[in-house]
Amino acid sequence: MITHKKRILTGDTPTGKLHLGHYVGSVENRLALQDEYDCFFIIANKHAFTTRAERPDEIRTSVIEIATDYLACGIDPNKSCMFVQSEVPAIDELTFFFAMLIPFNRVMRNPTLAQEIKDKDLGDKYPFGFPMYAVGQTADILAFRPELVPVGEDQLPHLELTREVARRFDQIYCGVDSHTEDKDYITAGGLFPVIQPKLGRVTRLVGIGAPSADGNLLKMSKSLNNAIFLSDGADVVQKKVMSMYTDPKRITGKEPGETSPDKNPLWAFHETFNTDKAWVDEYRARYAAGTVGDVPVKRKLVEVLNTLIDPIRTRRQHFEQRPDDVIDALRIGTKKANAVAEVTLALAKKAMKQDFFPRTLTLT
Ligand code: TRP
Repeated sequence: MITHKKRILTGDTPTGKLHLGHYVGSVENRLALQDEYDCFFIIANKHAFTTRAERPDEIRTSVIEIATDYLACGIDPNKSCMFVQSEVPAIDELTFFFAMLIPFNRVMRNPTLAQEIKDKDLGDKYPFGFPMYAVGQTADILAFRPELVPVGEDQLPHLELTREVARRFDQIYCGVDSHTEDKDYITAGGLFPVIQPKLGRVTRLVGIGAPSADGNLLKMSKSLNNAIFLSDGADVVQKKVMSMYTDPKRITGKEPGETSPDKNPLWAFHETFNTDKAWVDEYRARYAAGTVGDVPVKRKLVEVLNTLIDPIRTRRQHFEQRPDDVIDALRIGTKKANAVAEVTLALAKKAMKQDFFPRTLTLT
């Protein structure tokens, strides 16, 4: 059923399990907004093929893991819809049309793509589909004509591209004047909204490892081996925290003149996850003064993180024992996603004067 609540679209590429960085960057927002909005969470399995086309098993496993992570976090399949990208063909069809609206060089100037080429050491060996995924992401989003797109900071360049595609489409095919303000594109007759990003409470959570050569802590990331996963057991969380890097100079990020709160992951984590602010202030002062060591502060963090992750763990165990329920939730979500995306595609084709034959899509 298509409801008339405003929509949210966001999602993840299935290249591993979700970690605490995903949680504060985006999952927390999704949980907070699932009553107010009609939420669509895309599991972007096609995007995973950009760098691991030769590992289809791994991608399939990761799709299920991400879906299980969503359910474990408290995404309610009766309210929100999680779906598999490759089973929503309207997205691919829009991608082809949208690809005609953006210059190739504009796509290649996307800083997130440039960073990925660097980080993953792709050189000039990346497949044709790699830059295409950025165009595809504009279609992932616009197929749902959402109001809001909750993401981490690294996704902002993709969202800017999405805004450009929406403006161009609406101007060319819907007669929207190019001087129209972004917020007015729909009332001016456009099909696609010029979407708004919504950043999480913490846009960049650091990992548990030592800083890189330039002295800055690295972002939490599976590939950097510095992540605490939402699926980690209590003992694993304890082990990771107790062996976490701490600044030998006891920098907490809050001394006079100290501008970066990012020198010591221990305090970055307390700042982010410990809700007892009085404790944090007191212990930070004692830590800076050298009257308390790493161990009690780490022990407290273990407690804080396990309190957050415990209910996620319990729900995860529930769904791990019921893999068919996970598949069913994906099937229901993917059907609902198709219902919405097919309408958008039909409207887009009509605007583009390529609406030759109506069609219906059936998923079984
Ligand atoms: N690129 C996103 C990531 O790697 C995943 C993604 C694909 C996405 N399509 C999206 C996120 C649409 C938001 C909206 O995490």
